[in-house]
Amino acid sequence: PTALAGRHFLKELDFTEEEFRGLVELAAELKAAKKAGTETPYLRGRNIALIFEKTSTRTRCAFEVAAADQGAHTTYLDPSGSQIGHKESVRDTARVLGRMFDGIQYRGDSQAKIEELAAYAGVPVYNGLTDDWHPTQMLADVLTMTEHSAKPLRKTALAYLGDARFNMGNSYLVTGALLGMDVRIVAPKSYWPAPEIVDRARALAGTSGARVTLTEDIAEGVRGADFVATDVWVSMGEPKDVWDERIAALAPYAVTMDVLHATGNPDVRFLHCLPAFHDLGTTVGRQIHETHGLASLEVTDEVFESAHSIVFDEAENRLHTIKAVLVATLGRETLA
Ligand code: CP
Ligand code: NVA
Repeated sequence: PTALAGRHFLKELDFTEEEFRGLVELAAELKAAKKAGTETPYLRGRNIALIFEKTSTRTRCAFEVAAADQGAHTTYLDPSGSQIGHKESVRDTARVLGRMFDGIQYRGDSQAKIEELAAYAGVPVYNGLTDDWHPTQMLADVLTMTEHSAKPLRKTALAYLGDARFNMGNSYLVTGALLGMDVRIVAPKSYWPAPEIVDRARALAGTSGARVTLTEDIAEGVRGADFVATDVWVSMGEPKDVWDERIAALAPYAVTMDVLHATGNPDVRFLHCLPAFHDLGTTVGRQIHETHGLASLEVTDEVFESAHSIVFDEAENRLHTIKAVLVATLGRETLA
């Protein structure tokens, strides 16, 4: 068993820098083994429940394929099929599933709910996204950054543009702070992470040596960045009537070629957890085009399809990093 055997994975703040880096290193090893056809299944006979109260493409598929590669079985509970919190309390659901499964993935809105699930399940619980945090996404992003940059993370600058009050903004801020990076939140002030999260990030930076910047100034925020990241302007579960307000406030923070040029770094790379609104290939994208005349939102199609964009490497890395979490917390055999 590894040092993380039996641990939950609820938010980045629960981990030390060393533990977080260890998971990314394990993911890189598992990725290489899968590519070489030499993967060892450490999870034979394990059963993992996947509770999704919000929809998913990457996270669900990553958990299912990671488990299958490792010899484990998964059960998917979809947003309509789950009784959790409605017909059955979170505590009761946790105690039932904990009797049947070796681990539980949860995606939903409330962080308090997943913390309660973890408190009662008796088995490791993994956060596949809440309104507050997206920690498995951070493992994938860090693996992707290490693959695309020769610089150590401590010398790497990451600028996040857009709505930073939600899971992705919060997670980038604390992950960058935890790992000693130069992390910048570039957004209108009212879209910055909550003050208590900024305080936690600054406290982490005091230990790790990270540089934490929050700014409304795009030129200042992206200057010298190695990576530029963004996320959708309206997240899952938000009301539909916020589009006007978001577009008005965040339009200047869309990631365009001009923004990439403003980094001054010809090798700057673009990250996005996906899904992204960069063209008219989605229902929402077409609606926005009709109502607001815009063909893209948080990132232009030009940037998304450019050589700067590494979003599909990032998406693939969800698989390898989620596998690392499963192996580290539930792996049976001693890791070589
Ligand atoms: N990035 C991400 O979490 O994607 P899904 O919503 O498709 O799982
Ligand atoms: N902020 C987005 C991330 C999706 C992976 C959302 O919560 O919908």
